[in-house]
Amino acid sequence: MGTIADDPDYQATSALDRLRQTDYARLDATDQVYLDYTGAGLYGESQIRDHVAGLSTAVLGNPHSLSVASAASTERVEHTRRRVLEWFGASRDRYTVIFTANATGAIRLVGESFPFAEGGQLLLTTDNHNSVNGIREFAVRKGARVDYAPLTMPELRIDLPALHARLDGADRSRRNLFAFPAQSNFSGVKHPLDVIAYAQRAGWQVLLDAAAFVPTNRLDLSAVDPDFVAVSFYKMFGYPTGVGCLIAKRDALEALPRPWFAGGTVNFATVHGRHHIRSAGEAGFEDGTIDYLSIPAVEIGLRHLERAGFDLIGRRIGCLTRYLLEELVALRHSNGRHMIRIYGPTTMDMRGGTITMNGYDPDGHLLDYRRIEELAGERGISLRTGCFCNPGAGETAEQLTDEDMDRAAAFGREMTLPRFVQLMATRHTGKSAGAIRASLGIVSNARDVERFLDFMRGLRDQTKLALGDVTFDIESCRIIRDGS
Ligand SMILES: Cc1ncc(COP(=O)(O)O)c(C=O)c1O
Repeated sequence: MGTIADDPDYQATSALDRLRQTDYARLDATDQVYLDYTGAGLYGESQIRDHVAGLSTAVLGNPHSLSVASAASTERVEHTRRRVLEWFGASRDRYTVIFTANATGAIRLVGESFPFAEGGQLLLTTDNHNSVNGIREFAVRKGARVDYAPLTMPELRIDLPALHARLDGADRSRRNLFAFPAQSNFSGVKHPLDVIAYAQRAGWQVLLDAAAFVPTNRLDLSAVDPDFVAVSFYKMFGYPTGVGCLIAKRDALEALPRPWFAGGTVNFATVHGRHHIRSAGEAGFEDGTIDYLSIPAVEIGLRHLERAGFDLIGRRIGCLTRYLLEELVALRHSNGRHMIRIYGPTTMDMRGGTITMNGYDPDGHLLDYRRIEELAGERGISLRTGCFCNPGAGETAEQLTDEDMDRAAAFGREMTLPRFVQLMATRHTGKSAGAIRASLGIVSNARDVERFLDFMRGLRDQTKLALGDVTFDIESCRIIRDGS
């Protein structure tokens, strides 16, 4: 049987192999298999060289003034702002770009400013990153109703009739916000973007979390029309970290009352008069000094994706993901039992290159995902495990109940993900609140996929006991090993 490397569709993307050799040589030089592109993209070495060259020859000052050094920074920032709008097909008349620290910062800008009030609503999909789930705290505090639209099983897609029913129930005289991810960072599902127009017709403003979608898909804001879009640039091209953006419709932005003002966001502020006038457009939302040295690297990153052949990246990831799914689904122990359970779609219909799964031993016992991550690490394979800050998708996938959640909540601050996993494992045999995620990106190749598959095949007929226990504990999203 041939491997994916022999597939003509895959071979048609061989330009990316050359890119890997020239710009990502460190991957093969260190013999690593990187499979966490949904966590963070990888930068090409040329991006760093280009950025350093730009910094080395320019004198760049704080953009909030008129000096030559300041103007040089402003010119670079504004140029980048235009490039970002162009990349997303967004007209400058309708949209603007607000630079933030990351997608979370962009989402927070909307959440903290949105005029939630009694009678108004926040509607979220159950599949959402915690940075979107967190908006509910702002909404609840201001008396708005918070609701979740459920997912279908087993594909973890938005349940459209249930979503439409909720959207149709809005009070149009109030301000209502609907927020959902264009692509799930849990299951890789691409959610239908036509729900944006549906929601707007029904009286909602829409926040599209595009963080997991835009690294490998074109988001065309001349074809879809969300009010707000959140992006993290390191997820698109690895570098720089610390820069994201909120792409916002100009009229939607003006209608957001901010909870405070800060340096850079006002045209005028007095101390004696206790009065301030917010700057128009993006300036009114960029608190303090933006990261003016890193922002020009965003333009370099976009150029990098363009030169690599953005559509080629999507095509290659499609081939590799299809193959990986087929092979994982086919894995069986000698006794015929499946080795792997995939969460979400097992075909390429409306899904991206993120695959979340759990492993089971020949007796059907759930394998500890942390142990699998650890064993993969010993082979130089970087996976992601846990709940990926997307609890709703995992809870739906394992059909965890409200009672399960109440049990967990009773632990108060003592509750951590590992404890929750343990609690669920004792309450429901074989269920897991955590999983293993493998995700593909710009220079993933057939060899990465084969090495991962070889590793997973090595779990055949291994008992949970034989795999041993994990040698570290993860208490939260921050993992600090002794001595590091
Ligand atoms: C779908 C999605 N939304 C939002 C975020 C938050 O991104 P950041 O941590 O860069 O703010 C992530 C990060 O993983 C994500 O995958």
